[in-house]
Amino acid sequence: MGYLVRQMGHVVISSPDPKAAAEKLMDCAGLRITEEDGDTIYLSSNNRHHEVTYVKGKGEAIAMGLEAVSPDAIDEVYRRAKSDGLEILSDKPIGPHYDKAIRLVAPGGAVIEVHTPIARNQSRMYIGGGGPRPTRIEHFNSFSEDTAAYGEFCEKVLGMKLSDKTADDGLRWYRAQDGFHHTIAMGTGPTKLHHYAFDQRSMQDLQRIADNLAIRDDALVWGPGRHGAGENIYTYFADPMGCIIENSIELAHIDNDATYEPKAWDISEGLAGRWLNLWGTPPTERFLAGGIPFAH
Ligand SMILES: [Fe+2]
Repeated sequence: MGYLVRQMGHVVISSPDPKAAAEKLMDCAGLRITEEDGDTIYLSSNNRHHEVTYVKGKGEAIAMGLEAVSPDAIDEVYRRAKSDGLEILSDKPIGPHYDKAIRLVAPGGAVIEVHTPIARNQSRMYIGGGGPRPTRIEHFNSFSEDTAAYGEFCEKVLGMKLSDKTADDGLRWYRAQDGFHHTIAMGTGPTKLHHYAFDQRSMQDLQRIADNLAIRDDALVWGPGRHGAGENIYTYFADPMGCIIENSIELAHIDNDATYEPKAWDISEGLAGRWLNLWGTPPTERFLAGGIPFAH
């Protein structure tokens, strides 16, 4: 089997105030609520039932979902995870509107759910949200003290491919079958979900997001800029729990998977380097300190 993961799936995050978290995601990323079940709120930016689920809790990342290429691929991930001795948290979906899943702890502590596609049972068009209109949830970025082990897991257990890395092998970007430059990105440090991202449509969307943050007496934590790895234009804001949310346009799509060669980015200029921002502005302290722990 080659790729076992087709694309980004969904994220499940706990919050002391799921309603407030959902309102900010609607205002500042443009999603809308598709269903509420008690304190659990489901949001989507397209025809999927949900891309983000907020549940009542401490403000932790409960699971990062990846859509499998087939139901059999989930069995294959299970076999590989078992033989590597990884902790498997569940063999049942964490939410509704999909049939089959496995949830496990990746080396370094990220909680990942590999699952069948979430039902495409909503309209792609909707009224509401704050003005920007993302196309989809795009990728996530989590930290590990040992990105070599985390990266090997992405390749050997999930069947993903390395798109780029930094020359010291610390930061890595992995792609799934859909060919976008990265679905999982990773940084070096204490385990956390640093950010997850939405694919927006235009610079005007990014402008609207910054305006809506200002109207809320809030602000971006970094950007706009253009990443070297992945080539996407980005802005970032923080959700009420401290997790960073990226809004992105123009993420590179690898048009020939067979001939693509991963780059090893020169990081001799540190965080001011072009590998991180081709436009030159280094990240802020607030961006670097962002993120939430994984719930285990
Ligand atoms: Fe990112």
